[in-house]
Amino acid sequence: MIRPRLKEIFKKSFNYIIGLFSNDMGIDLGTATTLVYVKGEGVVLCEPSVVAIKRGTSIVRAVGDEAKRMLGRTPGNIVAIRPMKDGVIADFEITEAMLRHFIKKVHHRKVLVRPRIVIAIPSGITEVEKRAVKDSAERAGAREVKLIEEPMAASIGVGLPINEPMGNMIIDIGGGTTELAVISLSGVVFSKSIRIGGDELDEAIIEYLKKTYNVMIGERTAEEIKIRIGSAYPLEEEMNMEVKGRDLITGLPKAVILTSEEVREALQEPLRAILEITKISLERTPPELAADLIEHGIVMAGGGALLRGIDKLISEETGLPVHIADDPITAVVRGTGEVLDQVRYLDDVTVSIKSEIQT
Ligand SMILES: Nc1ncnc2c1ncn2[C@@H]1O[C@H](COP(=O)(O)OP(=O)(O)OP(=O)(O)O)[C@@H](O)[C@H]1O
Ligand SMILES: [Mg+2]
Repeated sequence: MIRPRLKEIFKKSFNYIIGLFSNDMGIDLGTATTLVYVKGEGVVLCEPSVVAIKRGTSIVRAVGDEAKRMLGRTPGNIVAIRPMKDGVIADFEITEAMLRHFIKKVHHRKVLVRPRIVIAIPSGITEVEKRAVKDSAERAGAREVKLIEEPMAASIGVGLPINEPMGNMIIDIGGGTTELAVISLSGVVFSKSIRIGGDELDEAIIEYLKKTYNVMIGERTAEEIKIRIGSAYPLEEEMNMEVKGRDLITGLPKAVILTSEEVREALQEPLRAILEITKISLERTPPELAADLIEHGIVMAGGGALLRGIDKLISEETGLPVHIADDPITAVVRGTGEVLDQVRYLDDVTVSIKSEIQT
């Protein structure tokens, strides 16, 4: 009786001691937001994926929250950029600097043991990009790096029973991309990634104001409008808000009152694209798994799942029940954390990088 208990106590103490020296972490490297989960501590960092650099160089001036505050307001010699906008790594060097900054920020105290890191990546990225992410994390101090596809991480994060032979569909609407996947038995049966996400919704609002009122607004204002009065489905009580921008004809500041109906109209096109891809994915889902979806429906994650009425719209158009994950923005990073905690997941659900392209 005593021996197994002793063994258990030893094991716990050993893990505890290793934990004192290492900060194993899970990272959701999103196009809009980067989140970091530290084993034993939970989600410790959630900052915009923005880097401010000195113009024409790769000298980093600020990262994350501090850099986002500079977006659109930078003096001539500093530019604030989003190195992963549109769901791809547009700038490797700056993405690496950002990743390094965030890893260092959470790894500050425990420098003795290099961390093991699980990073969630968009399912659409290329082998070269995967390699770049892995190398960057290694250069930033990781002793071991595992990559996991975002929809898989999101499914684990929201608690879907991915180990069972049962189809589950997840839709993750992020900033740069929308990822759809059907998952069964720890594998992605079908996945599709499109480069339409929250950014595209913001763009549509900018275009609408330009076309309808001749008013120019910035990206941050557009996002604020979307979050405050945006919707995908008629609201019980429609809303409105005053929007300030620049009159394109006079060049002077101008304010207009925008209604939630107008914003919904502006969002039609990108929302249609998301619906379209959902329907295509359903058509391509093997029949047995499609039958499971009728029962279990679709789970939505990512910041875009917070758009009012998006669940109603998708449910109405597909005829399936749609649930929004609790805390959809942290679903992916919580999934990476779960993978760190449950060693059995590590090899089952992470992806490898195919060897170099043959010449
Ligand atoms: N309440 C809200 N209503 C509508 N959209 C929202 C809301 N809150 C956040 N968003 C949008 O969610 C998007 C960011 O979501 P998320 O953090 O999941 O993206 P990401 O993971 O960084 O991107 P990706 O998965 O494409 O790499 C942004 O476009 C943001 O404007
Ligand atoms: Mg994401």
